[in-house]
Amino acid sequence: MTDGYASLARTAFGYAGSQILYAAVRLGVPDALAGGPVPVGKLADALGADPAALKRLARALVVLGVVREAPPGQLALAEAGRPLCADHPRSMRSSVLLFGDPAVWRAWGALHDSVLTGEPAFDQVHGLPLFDHLAGDAGLSRIFNTAMREGTGHLAAEVPRAYDCGGARVVVDIGGGDGTLLAAILTAVPGARGILYDTAQGGAGAGETFRRANVAERCTVEAGDFFAGVPGGDLMLLKGILHDWDDRRCATLLRRCREAIHPGGRLLVIEPVMPARLDAPDAAGAVMSDIAMLVYTGGRERDRAEFGDLLAAGGFAPDGLTAPLGGTAIRVLAARPV
Ligand SMILES: C[S@@+](CC[C@H](N)C(=O)[O-])C[C@H]1O[C@@H](n2cnc3c(N)ncnc32)[C@H](O)[C@@H]1O
Repeated sequence: MTDGYASLARTAFGYAGSQILYAAVRLGVPDALAGGPVPVGKLADALGADPAALKRLARALVVLGVVREAPPGQLALAEAGRPLCADHPRSMRSSVLLFGDPAVWRAWGALHDSVLTGEPAFDQVHGLPLFDHLAGDAGLSRIFNTAMREGTGHLAAEVPRAYDCGGARVVVDIGGGDGTLLAAILTAVPGARGILYDTAQGGAGAGETFRRANVAERCTVEAGDFFAGVPGGDLMLLKGILHDWDDRRCATLLRRCREAIHPGGRLLVIEPVMPARLDAPDAAGAVMSDIAMLVYTGGRERDRAEFGDLLAAGGFAPDGLTAPLGGTAIRVLAARPV
């Protein structure tokens, strides 16, 4: 088989690999193997699984490189499988649970319809938008928030290193989720206080994050709809927010930020910036995120010029762009009110 054919086949059957990981994590296989090798039969008993079927799943996990055979007849977690454990410092357990969840992967099944209509696949499959669906499903909402933390955790401390937040007095994280980014910025700027603004379900875990980071006494958590209004500050953050929405909704949100920002304040938009060329090193991340936004929310990734137009529509002007953070396509785009 040529490399090209093999790569095409891997992509064509890619969802099988995703569901193998999802089933393993949902059953608890990685955490059950974290302490050392376990015989397959004992693992099946512990997880309440059919021994023969679990053996077949385990073989697939060996082929995918996340589990290894540890003779005689035992299974062990491979090094590459460790991030599937809940307590790994760069855990992707909740991301696997989110992207393999039936609600999410069924939406991918309607990508074809999205391309025909331009409408988000998620809404077509479920009859309501992603964030409304999450509001009615507390379990999936918790998984979503933890998955966002997994994606933000390793980048959060890089933001205050890439952009000087030093003079900030009031930092507002709009759609700040579980507070991971705000906690990192307040840790880097000890004189600042913070406001996390999100829906009730989106910000549900933020208090705990602030307590763990020892910044709770400098933080408040406010719940509301960011299209209706946002709290004001002199450093306002939008991380992974604009790419969830079309241009019209983004312009509304940016105008709410413009109304609330303190004089002389700065807005930081933190998300992928689509590079000019598709052979750029950060292009793949931005492009895959862009197609995911079409499926999930009807949002999109944008290039510098598109961000410039969007900011202008909201009453802001670009004021600097950092290099990509941590090997991703995500950059900090600073803006000042005009
Ligand atoms: C993609 S997540 C990003 C979370 C976080 N900023 C991060 O990057 O990890 C989008 C966030 O926007 C919040 N959100 C969505 N619609 C909202 C609304 N109308 N008002 C306030 N927050 C909203 C969600 O609850 C979620 O926490």
